[in-house]
Amino acid sequence: MPIDPARAQLIQRLPKVELHLHIEGSLEPEMMFSLAGKHGIALPYASVEAVRAAYNFHDLQSFLDLYYAGCAVLRDRQDFYALAMAYFTRAHADNVVHAELFFDPQTHTARGIPMEVVFSGLRDAMDDAHRRYGITSELILCFLRHLSEEDAFATLEAAMPFRSDFIGVGLDSGERGNPPAKFARVFAKARSLGLRLVAHAGEEGPAAYIVDALDVLAVERIDHGVRCDEDPALVARLVRDRIPLTVCPLSNLKLCVVKDLRQHNFARLLRQGVAVTINSDDPAYFGGYIGENYRAIAEALDLSAAELTLVAENAARAAFMPATAKAGLLTKIRTVATR
Ligand code: HPA
Ligand code: ZN
Repeated sequence: MPIDPARAQLIQRLPKVELHLHIEGSLEPEMMFSLAGKHGIALPYASVEAVRAAYNFHDLQSFLDLYYAGCAVLRDRQDFYALAMAYFTRAHADNVVHAELFFDPQTHTARGIPMEVVFSGLRDAMDDAHRRYGITSELILCFLRHLSEEDAFATLEAAMPFRSDFIGVGLDSGERGNPPAKFARVFAKARSLGLRLVAHAGEEGPAAYIVDALDVLAVERIDHGVRCDEDPALVARLVRDRIPLTVCPLSNLKLCVVKDLRQHNFARLLRQGVAVTINSDDPAYFGGYIGENYRAIAEALDLSAAELTLVAENAARAAFMPATAKAGLLTKIRTVATR
């Protein structure tokens, strides 16, 4: 049953924080075509419709193959600017007020795109989004876990001239067979540099990867983390230590992490006291931005207005924002929820 107008309106009005968004995953097929034309790159698709039709994934890897291929059209500073600006414009329409963007520099440097091009294009858009929409944002540099720790070290090193442009590091790409412990030393190094730490864990990988991300990498948030409930002691720990999970409902559906959103454990985790949040992951590939993710999961699991408000509060609390800005945002969320 569709959600009632009051909850739909609440979802729209709630000031939102997005904590799990791969900026390369916001590349819409229309932009893929226009950038391919600009750079004279041949795409293996006849049309925008054909691209969308190809977005039928059976697991994480089947998505990653197309996601990395799509990145080939991102070549210059203006491309990265256009990509991120399109995301911010869309996010603003969903009332996103703060976003922490993941990006995958190794996908670009491996193609010969200088680190500086990636940082400067994204930074231009972040500055513009603040001026135009009042959106604050941060960058989180993700290491590709299918590559070596040595490669991650080289990437961190290459990013150091831009240290003031990113707030933390994360870990993404194919999870199975690439446990968090593979990156123990590079995360320790990042930590020593004052960087904030997050990691994808428990999307396709087991609950043990979540435990390792916490114990071995010392991350502050878990991206996805939906397989935590295979380990009740872990769920109790997430609640006790208030470790946020950045859940992405439509991603979980599209990548067959869940068969049906009605079977998603989001509401169960929320009601057990886990600090779950709602995010879009790779919205151009998974069929919806953050607002769509809120609506889809609210409808599938019949989340109440109070629960939707709590989710927005969880995201604000989990953000790497200055304390005063965070307090102001929490007040705004309460104002919207009680009017
Ligand atoms: N999981 C792992 N790696 C990713 C994802 C994801 O959902 N999106 C982009 N890279
Ligand atoms: Zn992700």
